[in-house]
Amino acid sequence: MSDETTNDQTQHERQTPPQPPKREHPSTYVVQDRENERELRRLTIQDQMITNGMGGVLPEQPDPTIFQRVLDVGCGTGGWAMEAARNDPAMSVVGIDISQRMMEYARAQAAAQHLGDQVEFQVMDALRILEFPDAFFDLVNLRFGISFLRTWDWPKMLSELLRVTRPGGIIRVTDEEVIHLSNSPALTQFWELFQLSFYRAGHLFANTTSGLTDHLPRLLTQHGCQSVQAKAHALALPARTPEGQAYYDDVEHVVQTTRPFLQKWAGSAAREYDDLRQRILEEMQRPDFRATWNLLTVWGTKPGAPHPTTG
Ligand SMILES: C[S@@+](CC[C@H](N)C(=O)[O-])C[C@H]1O[C@@H](n2cnc3c(N)ncnc32)[C@H](O)[C@@H]1O
Repeated sequence: MSDETTNDQTQHERQTPPQPPKREHPSTYVVQDRENERELRRLTIQDQMITNGMGGVLPEQPDPTIFQRVLDVGCGTGGWAMEAARNDPAMSVVGIDISQRMMEYARAQAAAQHLGDQVEFQVMDALRILEFPDAFFDLVNLRFGISFLRTWDWPKMLSELLRVTRPGGIIRVTDEEVIHLSNSPALTQFWELFQLSFYRAGHLFANTTSGLTDHLPRLLTQHGCQSVQAKAHALALPARTPEGQAYYDDVEHVVQTTRPFLQKWAGSAAREYDDLRQRILEEMQRPDFRATWNLLTVWGTKPGAPHPTTG
C-alpha cells in the first residue's frame, strides 16, 4: 500500500464518523456476490444478444410510443432500459436493481451515451416494495425474473407491478426455458443441473425446462392482468456467427458465476464440475455447434382504463 493511499484513508477516516456495517438482505439471485465483475460483463453480453435476437426491446407491442413512463425491474447493466429510451426520445425509463455495482455501471453508460435525461437507475430490492407511487408507469418490464424470484414471490411481485402501473398500462414479463437445446451433451448436462438447482431453490413450479414459462400466462391472469397474451421466441445460436460467439462468451461466464449456486443445490462435486466446464467449452468450439434458446414474453393490461367518452 502506498503512503499516498494510507494518507487518503487516514484523512477519510478523520472526516467520516464510524458507520454501522451496512445490512443487506441476502440475495435470492443465482449469483450471490452483487459486486461480481464477471457477472456484470456476462449481463452486458447477454442483454444485447437477447434484445437483438428477440427483434428489439418491445417487438410485440404495436405502438411503443404510447409508453411515456417505463420501469425495468432487475435491469442489470441497463441495456434494455437504454435501448428503449434511445428508440423513443419522449420515453423516460427507470431501471432498478439490487446490485449497487450494476447501477453504477448503468449510470455511467447512460451518461456516456447522453441518455442521462431520459433514464435513471436506482438500487432497489424488488422483493420488498417498489418505491414508486400508485399508477405511475405506462409499462413495467421484467426480464429473467427466474434468476431471483421463487414461485412464492410471484404473487407479491405481480401485485406490486400492477400497483405502480396506471389503469390501461402494460405488465410485460419475459422469461426462458431453462434447458437450451443444443448438440453439445456437456452443455445439456449443465442446463439439466441448472434446472434441478432452480427447482430445488424454488424458482420453478415444476422440474421441467418450462417450469416457469408454462405458468406465466396463468400467473398474470390470476393476479389481475386482463387480455393476457404471449409470444414465443426461439433464438438460433450457431457457431461462427456473432450470436454464436456471444452465446459462447455468456456460457463461459455463467458456468463460473453460478458455480456456487449449482454446487449448493445440485451437489455437483468440484472436480466433476471442472471436467464438465472443460467439455462444454470444447464442444461449443466445434464448427458445427448450434443451440436454440427459447424465450416467452407474456403481457397483460392493468384493468380500469377509462373508456373514451362518446358523443
Ligand atoms: C439475469 S439478470 C437480468 C438483467 C436484465 N433484466 C436483462 O434481462 O438483461 C437479473 C438481475 O436481477 C437483479 N436482481 C436480483 N435480485 C434482485 C432483487 N431482489 N431486486 C432487484 N433486482 C434483483 C440482479 O442483480 C441482476 O442484475
